[in-house]
Amino acid sequence: MSAGTGTFSIDGKTIDLAVREGTIGPSVVDIAPLYKNAGMFTYDPGFTSTASCESKITYIDGDEGVLLYRGYPIEQLAEHGDFLETCYLLLYGELPTASQKADFDYRVTRHTMVHEQMTRFFQGFRRDAHPMAILVASVGALSAFYHDSTDISDPQQRMIASMRMIAKVPTLAAMAYKYSIGQPFMYPKNNLDYTSNFLHMCFGVPCEEYVPNPVLARAMDRIFILHADHEQNASTSTVRLAGSSGANPFACIAAGVACLWGPAHGGANEAALKMLEEIGTPDRIPEFIARAKDKNDPFRLMGFGHRVYKNYDPRAKIMQRTTHEVLNELGIKDDPLLDVAMELERIALHDEYFIEKKLYPNIDFYSGITLKAMGFPTSMFTVLFALARTVGWIAQWKEMIEDPSQKIGRPRQLYTGAPQRDYTPIAQRS
Ligand code: SDX
Repeated sequence: MSAGTGTFSIDGKTIDLAVREGTIGPSVVDIAPLYKNAGMFTYDPGFTSTASCESKITYIDGDEGVLLYRGYPIEQLAEHGDFLETCYLLLYGELPTASQKADFDYRVTRHTMVHEQMTRFFQGFRRDAHPMAILVASVGALSAFYHDSTDISDPQQRMIASMRMIAKVPTLAAMAYKYSIGQPFMYPKNNLDYTSNFLHMCFGVPCEEYVPNPVLARAMDRIFILHADHEQNASTSTVRLAGSSGANPFACIAAGVACLWGPAHGGANEAALKMLEEIGTPDRIPEFIARAKDKNDPFRLMGFGHRVYKNYDPRAKIMQRTTHEVLNELGIKDDPLLDVAMELERIALHDEYFIEKKLYPNIDFYSGITLKAMGFPTSMFTVLFALARTVGWIAQWKEMIEDPSQKIGRPRQLYTGAPQRDYTPIAQRS
């Protein structure tokens, strides 16, 4: 929607720039004509004030700690729905009716097996390969097996590719885990729901029947809901940029997995748990708080801070409750890591540095404690994040492909390198 015009004046020139407003949230200034009319670029490394696209999928209010998927608050979706309902909502834009949900669950369930030759693909990795290295490779490798769903101009192929990734990434994630511990791969079981099936593929063995714990399955499913999408974060922006070149959907999602791996992004859950283990006991917290505040020390409190949330990450609150739920179900009365985490949060939230910089726990702060208690090694934490975020990446990729204004993403730069100069023959170089 148009919201009038802004003007930009420089060197005696004044340029009108259209202002557009969204349904909720900040309006935008359309700077596309700037280079043509003023011969200048805008400059915003890290995109702190830049909207890269128009989207209808997820809305975040960082000051109020609000997260909406297609307008529905994350708290309500996590409380009342399941992950596949959230997948349907993110993909189609509306909550499914009972028959739509049953059909969607059926379609996903029957795409969970991967091509049998994928099992040989895994054999090339060392057993100690990081599961994220395996996931990046195996998601990209899906494009070698499913040529009938790589034509991005065909809506039906786009949807088939989307369903395949939602269905198969859990299978690949479980295979990466099984491979790392030297256990046989477990085939999906169609009589289990999505998340119970994932737990079965991770923790089941051929020698005995695996009965998923319903409390743990519900907690895992809720964790997937919390991680499903998050506006234009680094990995989603990576998927959009890769998709803007026309790359096939499997390659685009593999690019998102690669970006998510970084410790500043999805790798923070693994880094946060390692940090809590390094702190070890509450009496060592002040030492780490001091390091986090020391400009000369690159150390940061992992699981704290966020580009958008300058209030408590709403997902972290639900995550914290889920942590207590899982520990209670497992009879873990006194988890030293949880003690350190809760004391660290209490101290940090009363410390002037964190208050002034508006640094709060984010979703990665408590997730690691929960996942460790459920039996996952830290190396699997970001894999679980990627599993859940696959639907968000796909929904955003589809929206970008279907956007009539879409064109290849190609940012410019502020060049501060050498001016043009002539080649010097090597004999004349000193
Ligand atoms: C995710 O974008 C998303 O939506 C991501 C995500 C999603 O769902 O997709 O929400 C998932 O990635 C959550 C974030 C996980 N990362 C971490 O927990 C790593 C630790 N956090 C930081 O690295 C940092 O907070 C970021 C990367 C999350 C945000 O960085 P910004 O927005 O670029 O902020 P910044 O680095 O400019 O920091 C602002 C100030 C700096 O101090 P000054 O230079 O202004 O003096 O705050 C300080 C920073 O030094 N700061 C921290 C800190 N985070 C920021 N100081 C100590 N500990 C921290 N964790």
